Amino acid sequence: MNKKQIIPALLAALTLCCLIILPVMANSRSQSAPIIAQSPAPAPSPRLPNRSLPNVVILATGGTIAGTGATSTTTAGYQAAKLPVESLISAVPEMQNIANVTGEQVLQIASENMTNEGLLKIAKRVNELLAKPDVNGVVITHGTDTLEETAYFLNLVTKSTKPVVVVGAMRPATALSADGPLNLYNAVAIARSPEAVGKGVFVSLNDQISAAREVTKTNTTSLNTFQAHDMGYLGYVELGKPYFYRMPIRKHTVATPFEVSTLTALPQVDIIYGYGNNRPAMLNAAIADGAKGIVYAGVGDGSISVQLEESAIAASKKGIAIARSSRTGSGRVVRNGEEKDDENGFIVADNLTPQKARLLLMLGLTITNDPQKLQEMFYTY
Ligand code: SIN
Repeated sequence: MNKKQIIPALLAALTLCCLIILPVMANSRSQSAPIIAQSPAPAPSPRLPNRSLPNVVILATGGTIAGTGATSTTTAGYQAAKLPVESLISAVPEMQNIANVTGEQVLQIASENMTNEGLLKIAKRVNELLAKPDVNGVVITHGTDTLEETAYFLNLVTKSTKPVVVVGAMRPATALSADGPLNLYNAVAIARSPEAVGKGVFVSLNDQISAAREVTKTNTTSLNTFQAHDMGYLGYVELGKPYFYRMPIRKHTVATPFEVSTLTALPQVDIIYGYGNNRPAMLNAAIADGAKGIVYAGVGDGSISVQLEESAIAASKKGIAIARSSRTGSGRVVRNGEEKDDENGFIVADNLTPQKARLLLMLGLTITNDPQKLQEMFYTY
């Protein structure tokens, strides 16, 4: 090959290289890149339980504690019940220093959507878990709107002295100063603690510990919303340890006759609200709809208006349980005070809020519809 022939030959070889070899190389690179990206991340080595630590199971049901907002300042108008239990647990790795924490997703709802079926599902799972010798306590994450109801229901039907703590948050997980992670850590600190055994079901938010029977949500948005009114808190959680100052006296958990393991439904009990110009329409509608019991959230000391009284007495005579509570939010309803309870077969709800009286009346009605026996339950649990 002479010099004149070498230059075209080199040009031809170069062209061939550009047309064939480079695209092949580029193609092979573009194929290999996604393969690298798609190769699975090494599986995290499963955390072995630390045998020196107690075992706590978190049952997640949704609520703001599992909520997410569009921005870090979205503290209203966010979406509740979005994050799964795994995210709640992995957001607080500090919990694993005080307990072996595992989780289950039992429900994923905003708590205004809690149903009797939901209550039974949670309660049955709590009892199954606490029956296991290697489970020391259970935490339930829950929306705050009906948190106190689920807590009191569990207080009545849990068949174990091991700690059960119901916890929520007022700010979603994505918010500035979200309260969920510390509330959850505190709840685990209570659930793992021998000091918490035998004291019934707890509610814990904002470093406070309350008895399920006594606590209620009192403010729409405040972190300090859970208050126990006349009764006060049972104690505080501080640096991963609960400090108790008193015991709940009313019977609970293993000291109640209520058994949910065989129940598939609860008797219908509706709440009727007392107010000026009260008419019997709502009460009659609830009874026509199949209510077996009515909790009347009466004004003051549970007073029933004359316009409604006749229907309430007629319902009671037909065997529908009528329990008088108060819409005031605290204090006892005095038996035979504002109404002739003995004569009319009414029950008074003691100092239970109407929403908690509904739970006790439903459970009571699974055993009896005798007003005297039901009354005794309201004085006992
Ligand atoms: C809910 O109750 O599910 C929403 C509100 C809250 O958790 O604070």
